[in-house]
Amino acid sequence: MTLDRQTVIDRLRSVKGPDLEGDVVSLGLVSEIFIADGKVFFSITVPARRAQELEPLRQAAETAVKSLPGVKGAMVALTAEKAGGGMGATPPPRPNPAPPRPTSQRSAPGGPAAQAGQQPAKQDVPGIKAIIAVASGKGGVGKSTTAVNLALGLKALGLKVGILDADIYGPSMPRLLGLKGKPETADGKTLKPMEAFGVKVMSMGFLVEEDTPMIWRGPMVVSALRQMLRDVAWGELDVLVVDMPPGTGDAQLTMAQQVPLAGAVIVSTPQDLALIDARKGLNMFRRVDVPLLGIVENMSYFVAPDTGKRYDIFGHGGAKAEAERLGVPFLGEVPLTMDVRETSDAGTPVVASNPDGVQAGVYREIAGRVHTHLAAAMQSAADEAPAIVFE
Ligand SMILES: Nc1ncnc2c1ncn2[C@@H]1O[C@H](COP(=O)(O)OP(=O)(O)OP(=O)(O)O)[C@@H](O)[C@H]1O
Ligand SMILES: [Mg+2]
Repeated sequence: MTLDRQTVIDRLRSVKGPDLEGDVVSLGLVSEIFIADGKVFFSITVPARRAQELEPLRQAAETAVKSLPGVKGAMVALTAEKAGGGMGATPPPRPNPAPPRPTSQRSAPGGPAAQAGQQPAKQDVPGIKAIIAVASGKGGVGKSTTAVNLALGLKALGLKVGILDADIYGPSMPRLLGLKGKPETADGKTLKPMEAFGVKVMSMGFLVEEDTPMIWRGPMVVSALRQMLRDVAWGELDVLVVDMPPGTGDAQLTMAQQVPLAGAVIVSTPQDLALIDARKGLNMFRRVDVPLLGIVENMSYFVAPDTGKRYDIFGHGGAKAEAERLGVPFLGEVPLTMDVRETSDAGTPVVASNPDGVQAGVYREIAGRVHTHLAAAMQSAADEAPAIVFE
């Protein structure tokens, strides 16, 4: 039996609808289905407010499809908007529940920001001109892929660039950049960063064994981050790109506070539901007064590997509209392509391995915009900084 859309649709008939009545196919909830290289992509439409509750439905659909012979993987997303005409359908404008206004809630009760009443002065890291975070509200949206290609894009602009992989939950840089081994120490005190494609790299993955239990990793976050930032011989860098752990919990907030960030880039997929998380990410940085450099829409549209034809499977454009609504720069759209996935897995990110390709061009443009917004943010920070007067 060959794997085709009909096979997938037939399989999905075994997945019950949201109220356990009917099935997701008969209820018309399944989007266009794409299959490339044994991987199956589609989305299921659900009411926005039931997203969390319906996560098991998403998983059931993924599991059902993965059990088909010939399927190497499945990516199922819940979308909140009506799929409309399927391919190419533009999502209808959605009444926008105003996000909680980011008042300067530095001393929000409870959170780690509580200690921020007397904001510990964030110490700059000598030699590093700007540190930017790449973050997302939820996992799996392509944050690490974006971080690494953004860093290489900045490098292509002629900047001196480093990458700090601060994702304690799942460090990706060793794999994404094909780096193995442990970093050496320079003088017994500082660690020398590893290097790949002309970019300096430090990762939790170099320091912590992969099977180290999370419980132990948790408390390490702050001290490990400090070390990776300050006890590493970064040398002179124009930009250090930090790949943040996904989510907006205490660990992330602490990190956002601990690191002297010049700005943050938020990665989101186009669906409404992912955007809700993206908004949480934005608000987290606003809480700690980090300028938002913009939003990247990842897996924005799908490019069929055989024909090169473009399909808007996940309702592309959501992040752009949201960025406009929130008054945050929109940095660009990265298509879902096998190229990006395969080069990532092979440890040769697409900007380095295929610099003339479409994908690399997209990332370089994003890097250019990030650079522009970063320069502006740093200028305005410098303008606002109170002059120090010695008496
Ligand atoms: N534009 C893209 N096209 C195709 N595949 C992509 C794209 N972006 C990311 N991927 C793939 O999606 C998966 C998740 O990406 P990635 O690891 O970058 O996400 P993440 O947000 O960092 O995840 P985590 O939350 O686990 O850290 C990877 O297999 C990656 O290769
Ligand atoms: Mg990651």
